[in-house]
Amino acid sequence: MGRLVIRDLTQSFQKDCGPELVALDHISLDVDDKEFVCILGPSGCGKTTLLRLIAGLDTGRSGSVVLDGEEIRGPSQKIGFVFQEYSLFPWRNVTDNIAFGLEMQKKPRDERYRIAEQYLKLVGLTQFANSYPSELSGGMRQRVAVARALALDPVILLMDEPFGALDAQTRNMLQKELLEIWEKTRKTIIFITHSVDEAVYLSDRIIVLSPRPGRVCKIVPIDLPRPRNRTSTEFATLRRDILDLISDNCVV
Ligand SMILES: Nc1ncnc2c1ncn2[C@@H]1O[C@H](COP(=O)(O)OP(=O)(O)O)[C@@H](O)[C@H]1O
Ligand SMILES: [Mg+2]
Repeated sequence: MGRLVIRDLTQSFQKDCGPELVALDHISLDVDDKEFVCILGPSGCGKTTLLRLIAGLDTGRSGSVVLDGEEIRGPSQKIGFVFQEYSLFPWRNVTDNIAFGLEMQKKPRDERYRIAEQYLKLVGLTQFANSYPSELSGGMRQRVAVARALALDPVILLMDEPFGALDAQTRNMLQKELLEIWEKTRKTIIFITHSVDEAVYLSDRIIVLSPRPGRVCKIVPIDLPRPRNRTSTEFATLRRDILDLISDNCVV
């Protein structure tokens, strides 16, 4: 399972007695089990705020987030998170990074290593089991971060611009690998990006947010068969339509 129902999610922030800033304004959204959804929007429109609320990492919102019939009120093992910045522990090797959450769950050592090995293989880093994050490239570190999130077997994986800091070639490669992993593991994925190209390549549906305050501006289904060809006319048309939408500032 991994079905998410978001209703009227609103989040405001107040800084130093200044005026209240509305970051998200009545977001309602359904995400199906095993769906791959990208959330696309300009910087500052509330994407990270939205993802943190789905993950139960922040409070003070109004509205509701319900995962498989249960309201999210705090962090949950059903939800995996991959951040943009490499959030690995520098003092742990790759295996021990992947096994970290399992250690917190007090799983026996044998089982931890067995699971870590399985996910290490899934992301193609078996040879780097004993390496430290500083010895890895950016793309490899993000593969480890994906393996670490999946090792806890969440029903939904939340990814906040995970490939944003990578060069274009590595980024394209990781996008392809992520789709393969998604097909093998059948998790629901919510992936945040401000790259239209990335969103069209990955998504079943793209949720386009308006500039602040973030509102759902448009939901665009992407029906192209996978693997998608970035140079096809259909791909280019979708990319242009969405770019037009964004440049009109998505006024709703
Ligand atoms: N903890 C916070 N306190 C105050 N303002 C915040 C906080 N988190 C986010 N914001 C503000 O909310 C808006 C949306 O931020 P964010 O969700 O990070 O946008 P995005 O990820 O789309 O770039 C921004 O104006 C940001 O400054
Ligand atoms: Mg962000």
